[in-house]
Amino acid sequence: MISTALQEARDTEEMREKSISEEQRPLFHLSPRVGWMNDPNGFSFYQGQYHLFYQYYPYNSYWGPMHWGHAVSPDFLRWTYLPAALAPDEKYDKAGVFSGSAVELPDGRQLLVYTGVAETYEEKGKKTVRQTQCLAVGDGLDYVKYEGNPVISSEMIPEGGSLEDFRDPKIRKIEDGTYRMLVANRPADGSGQLLLYRSNDAFHWEFHKVFAQNFNRFGKMWECPDFFELDGKSVLLVSPQDMLPEGFEYHNGNGTLCLIGDYDPCAETFTEETNQAVDYGIDFYAMQTILSPDGRRIMIGWMQNWDTIGVREPRDPWFGQMSLPRELRIIDGKLYQYPIRELEKYRRNKVEYSQALLKGNRALDTVFVKPETVTDGLALPGISGRCLDMEVVVSCPEGAKLFNKFTISLAADKEFHTKISYRPYESIVKIDRKFAGSRRAVIHQRRAQVQMQDGQIRFRIILDRYSMEVFINGGSKVMTATIGTELSSDGIFFACDRDAVISVTKYELVM
Ligand code: FRU
Repeated sequence: MISTALQEARDTEEMREKSISEEQRPLFHLSPRVGWMNDPNGFSFYQGQYHLFYQYYPYNSYWGPMHWGHAVSPDFLRWTYLPAALAPDEKYDKAGVFSGSAVELPDGRQLLVYTGVAETYEEKGKKTVRQTQCLAVGDGLDYVKYEGNPVISSEMIPEGGSLEDFRDPKIRKIEDGTYRMLVANRPADGSGQLLLYRSNDAFHWEFHKVFAQNFNRFGKMWECPDFFELDGKSVLLVSPQDMLPEGFEYHNGNGTLCLIGDYDPCAETFTEETNQAVDYGIDFYAMQTILSPDGRRIMIGWMQNWDTIGVREPRDPWFGQMSLPRELRIIDGKLYQYPIRELEKYRRNKVEYSQALLKGNRALDTVFVKPETVTDGLALPGISGRCLDMEVVVSCPEGAKLFNKFTISLAADKEFHTKISYRPYESIVKIDRKFAGSRRAVIHQRRAQVQMQDGQIRFRIILDRYSMEVFINGGSKVMTATIGTELSSDGIFFACDRDAVISVTKYELVM
């Protein structure tokens, strides 16, 4: 039986999606069917296709009582919407069906694990919030909430843990056929911890142990945990709230954190060795991964950030996008990310320039470059567009003095541009969308520290209509930002204060 709340959500999305034209949406990044989207949920491979659910409010483009939207894809890039999967329609989740994950049961059904949020109001308007972990079982299209919900209640939180901040379950089946669930929680010190629960059948759970603790090192509360083995190491991903910057590694506000270390499967303990940010750009949060049938660890994130949601225009028919799915590797103890390889089959119309000389323009190395000078940069015939996969390799001509600053302007015309710049003496890559058309005073720039490698800096840039993802030096750092620039601004210009040598390979992405 489909509840009235779910039916209403399904009717609304079916009716309102018709008013959104294809061009108003990204080409290959998933956006909500209608209304608002945040975190990816239940990222899974089930019955021959990839399923992606998402935090969803179909009634307008602002966050509201959370539902789960649903889409499927054969290849991570061409998405088909399915009807909304879950609505807040039970006592224990009336205030929201929050983030969670999915696993296939031995009998072939799909199990969704999510956080139910319940709010009660006492006298004088005092609000009590309770977050508990709940289940729904389905066939890839329709899901029925489990009658034993919640399966992890407030009583199962260890002493001192917040009953209010207890969410984002990530389930996994381990080798002996039993299940583990990591849940984010706020301990008594006000920061974050991850609680590990275990079950033999995925329905009956017990508290096992505290799996990881923040101790107020990386922000406060940790959201959306994910844990997996990769290339002989163990990786814990979380999205911390209330971060403070640490050099160029972490930035203020909602951030992303990757802890790499070792895991002892007998004691079920994780020992941290190194830490780093996941994405160094503006819009990336709440990432989740899956292991694809061919053994790749693939991550997707919400291509937005709670601190930048004000970038929207209030009348937009949808808000929020998913990042490009990214293949992960650990190399020399560091996280590397690559655009999902399925993208390559959509490449068309290759345009290539090998070792072209970019003449230096000393005026570029001033603190402020007026926007109208952007189009004075070098435009290369055939290099333009808003849906593309482009590699740019930059180096210094032999015997010449190394440039101070190199820039690529994208989605550009006389009025607008989004810029990537590199200052080799400072080892700084900067992305800047200040001139991308936003009329809101949110963060528009961000910097990451990157050294040249063998005398080169390499960018792989994935542009979709309303976003830019920059993979630097073979995926060692990634910077992501959304843009709202009109699609008619499709120029690309290169500039440098001294002579540089550039090689450019550009493909249009066509789907
Ligand atoms: C992260 C988050 C989660 C929560 C969801 C609510 O972005 O705050 O912790 O489950 O969003 O929509």
